[in-house]
Amino acid sequence: MKVKISIFGFLDMLKFKNLKKNRENLIENSPSTNIENNYVVNDLANFYHPYKQELEVDDIIVENEDVKSFILTSKAKLAPFKAGSYISIYVNINNELVSRAYSISSSPLDAYKGFYRITVKRVKGGLMSNYLLDKVKVGDKLYASEPGGFLTYNKIRDHKNVVCVAGGVGITPFISMAKAINDHVEDFNLTILYGVDNKKDIILKDDIDYLNKTDKVNIIYVFRNEEVDNYPYGLITTDLIKKYGKDDYSIFVAGPRGLLDYMQKELPSLNLKQKDIRIEQSPIYLNGEDKKYDVIVHINDEVKTIKASSNETLLQALEHNNISIRTKCHLGGCGFCRTKLIKGSYEATKFFKLKEVDKKLNFIHPCSIYPRSDMEIEVYEY
Ligand code: FES
Repeated sequence: MKVKISIFGFLDMLKFKNLKKNRENLIENSPSTNIENNYVVNDLANFYHPYKQELEVDDIIVENEDVKSFILTSKAKLAPFKAGSYISIYVNINNELVSRAYSISSSPLDAYKGFYRITVKRVKGGLMSNYLLDKVKVGDKLYASEPGGFLTYNKIRDHKNVVCVAGGVGITPFISMAKAINDHVEDFNLTILYGVDNKKDIILKDDIDYLNKTDKVNIIYVFRNEEVDNYPYGLITTDLIKKYGKDDYSIFVAGPRGLLDYMQKELPSLNLKQKDIRIEQSPIYLNGEDKKYDVIVHINDEVKTIKASSNETLLQALEHNNISIRTKCHLGGCGFCRTKLIKGSYEATKFFKLKEVDKKLNFIHPCSIYPRSDMEIEVYEY
């Protein structure tokens, strides 16, 4: 039998014969340094979801004696966001790295222009708000998480008409939405019912006056303690919401605890679907007898024992002891602060519900739990 070998088969055999030798040569001549690890996809992911953003305070605007807006810029490109989002701000206060979430009150388009604006109201006894209002100055550096949040418009889920109920500084995410409509970044009809005690309590008034001229945006003050011509007086009632909601609408609510609790009770009478209601969560602090517990904290190869109070969240206890972990929402929702529980018991804040998978794997969210015994945990340092 004759075996025919074509010219191509012969060349393949020759290549194969030299394969090993060629490989050895390549290995021999390759550099001993690491391969450059700059993949386009990673760059894109880091842009949308940065681990940390270094920001500089570019300007501070006094809104009133207890509210200031901060213009924050960065040398790097700022992560984009959807109107209604927040960022978690990290500041070093007396050697504690403290973090709190603040809604972005600027337009998504402003992030492309190079800045975020946050608007901060003083909280009585609040470590972060008092520090930001009284100590932070132009040129100071601070860190922020990537933007996030669920108080955002989604054209598949939400109706074309949206009624927002805001109280106090809760107006800020909705101002961002109104700006997004003005910038043609979002397209829906937005009515904001903005509850304030008196005229002097209005914040971001210049923005409101300007945005009220925008097609599709209607911002209405509802004064609680002062009668003002042409404006509703008293509480934001469901009748008022219906008047502006027309037939089909979604409703978003943000503001102080009192407003959120009041709206939780009122909204069922509107007979809306659950998907049409979005209420901003705000922390509910548990207060009781102040007991002190020991918490053993494993951080990489280190072990520290810290004191934690039964009246502070585990996250606050970590921050007071200068242990910084990654956070975002501060409400138990985002999972960024997820921490391994080795032993100990705790009480969770009212709206926080641990996911089954976290329970199974013994993960806790320190932002939303209070120690109720000595504990042992393993954290992932930020
Ligand atoms: S910071 Fe979001 S769950 Fe704790």
